[in-house]
Amino acid sequence: MPVSELQVLISREQIQQRVTEMAAQITRDFTGQAIIFVGVLKGAAIFLSDLARQVPLDSTFDFIGVCSYGQQSAGAAATPNGGWDSTGEVRLTKDVEQSMAGKNVLLVEDILDTGLTLTYIKKLLLNRQPKTLRVVALLDKPSRRKKPMQADYVGFTIPDKFVVGYGMDYAERFRNLPDICILSDAVLSSEK
Ligand code: IMP
Repeated sequence: MPVSELQVLISREQIQQRVTEMAAQITRDFTGQAIIFVGVLKGAAIFLSDLARQVPLDSTFDFIGVCSYGQQSAGAAATPNGGWDSTGEVRLTKDVEQSMAGKNVLLVEDILDTGLTLTYIKKLLLNRQPKTLRVVALLDKPSRRKKPMQADYVGFTIPDKFVVGYGMDYAERFRNLPDICILSDAVLSSEK
């Protein structure tokens, strides 16, 4: 599939502008405090790296990995027709390495969809007794929610479309696209 055929939903310029705004908000909210950015692998890696470099606070990074029940690998997670949320069971594939106790934790996710993943991770991290735990989601698809979940910082609210790029994948592909693009069924079926 030629990448040029993908429809851009959010351009790299729009992403950068919004990430800058989110970073400024986080900086204001945590002025004078240390924070831990915890990225959800692998989709949030690019977002975390752009965001964190614009937050001039004392900070460290950590990463957490999860996959849904029945998934072969984290990369095969979501499918355009909603395969991700078939069972609702999420399991840990990689735990954080630092202690969260008494820390300001910013959980960084690429996209908040059904809410199952963040519900699972939030519960796990809250058990570690952080001082604060806030969720930062670049994208939010509220129409797909199965568990009540709200992010504290949201980049963009988007419709129920399957998107790739800026860290987000379809079967591990397209993470390196600089823009966020819609992967339509039409584009996928043209590959077959
Ligand atoms: P949730 O548990 O349904 O909220 O799913 C969150 C995860 O599903 C995200 O971290 C993504 O890995 C994946 N996901 C959901 N929607 C999309 C999408 O449109 N494109 C790529 N991945 C998605």
